[in-house]
Amino acid sequence: MNFQQDYLSKKKDIGGILDLFKSEDFIISGLGASEPMNILSQLHHIAERGVKGCDITNCLPLGNYEHIMNDSYKDAIFVNSWFYGGQMRAAAKNGNQNTTHMPQRLHTAYKKRAYAIDGRRVVLLCTCSPMDAHGYLSLSLGCTYEREAIDNGAFVIAEVNPNMPRTFGDTLIHISEINAFVETDTPAPTLPAPTFTDKDKIIGAYIADLVEDGSTIQLGIGGIPNAVADALKGKKDLGIHTEMFTDGMVELVECGAVTNAKKSINRFQCVATFAMGSQKLYDFLNDNPSVLMRSGNYTNDPAVIGENSKMVSINTSLEVDFFGQCASEAIGPVQFSGSGGQADTAIGAQRSKGGKSIIALYSTANIKNPDGTRTAVSKIVHFLKAGSIVSLSRNDVDFVVTEYGVAALSGQPTRERVKRLIAIAHPDFREELQALAVTNNII
Ligand code: COA
Repeated sequence: MNFQQDYLSKKKDIGGILDLFKSEDFIISGLGASEPMNILSQLHHIAERGVKGCDITNCLPLGNYEHIMNDSYKDAIFVNSWFYGGQMRAAAKNGNQNTTHMPQRLHTAYKKRAYAIDGRRVVLLCTCSPMDAHGYLSLSLGCTYEREAIDNGAFVIAEVNPNMPRTFGDTLIHISEINAFVETDTPAPTLPAPTFTDKDKIIGAYIADLVEDGSTIQLGIGGIPNAVADALKGKKDLGIHTEMFTDGMVELVECGAVTNAKKSINRFQCVATFAMGSQKLYDFLNDNPSVLMRSGNYTNDPAVIGENSKMVSINTSLEVDFFGQCASEAIGPVQFSGSGGQADTAIGAQRSKGGKSIIALYSTANIKNPDGTRTAVSKIVHFLKAGSIVSLSRNDVDFVVTEYGVAALSGQPTRERVKRLIAIAHPDFREELQALAVTNNII
């Protein structure tokens, strides 16, 4: 069979796709903007087809799917999430019995999850750009764990969508590797354009002072990293080796600050494992060989990241304690997002010659009270909240940056760390923090 015939033989409608699921399937869903939204919005109908006992593992899901929001489907599909989105938070808050969090380091996410397969069939649900003249499609906006699943024999079910950008690297997939697909034409999911506050701009400027020309950067998820990209526009010969490729990075390429010319590996190419942002970002990525999409087990491997000289990781956090421990993915024990690649990239940056691991956060959070009002709390605290989950160990943070300055922690003993962190806390909380440092005998 030639590849055009192969393509036609695998084409189905959504009903035909749903008929393919079997009880006990171990389903892995594409990450973020790569998730096949049309299939996922109908997936709960496998329950009516008598399918039972499936698991689905997702990562930063975007849709409010029935199989997540409605726990009456739990006997058919149980949902595990490597990285929560708003709907996973809502399902958990609602007390749904069909969802839970799946702890991971991003670069080993698939490898670790594979220990739980236990002989079950792995089904990968992904989204692809259309097939080219040689029989290749592209996994488009991400291949964080998708390529690993394919290489390990997953049954591959795809949505093929002309609105998905065609990207290169581990995203390329031949039609012979796909078991079945449905053609769709929904717009690629976009994020609103980032906006910056004055605080973001101040933090961005502090970080720009820490980033030398010729550095290779990683920018994490969240509001502040986008502002940091804006502040780096005056730099020269930056490189990009990141987990998530963003709009801010496109602007850095377009203004000439990023050339990738001084990178130690993958010269002249931006390296990423997934992308999410505006249509402008997707247009930039489409058919663009200067962006190399690689599996997370490459982009996020600290050993690979560390091969870049002057590698700077820039991530954000919800709470940082006096020791420098970062609770970045949960508020106390309540899961907010996921570990993602925060530890991967921070450890990688420290392995790099001249590398730096930076955590940037506002000095305060305006937390919502039950009556809807908001109260400012310090994000720099003496102890993390009871039950907190530490995403980044104190050993892996070189700099903490707030709108009040930079605390250089690397190589500093605990007493000095505490002084430096209090100095960048919000002035309204410094006295209280100082007193807590004394009463707890930390300073
Ligand atoms: N105590 C209580 N609540 C807090 C808090 C604190 N110390 N800090 C923040 N919050 C609340 C905020 O009030 C906000 O709530 P709201 O939605 O009701 O306004 C919410 O938590 C999110 O805070 P915000 O500071 O706006 O987060 P963000 O959108 O900038 O995202 C992270 C920040 C840390 C969640 C995100 O960066 C993340 O998930 N990091 C882990 C993964 C990672 O870094 N990967 C790196 C490679 S991509």
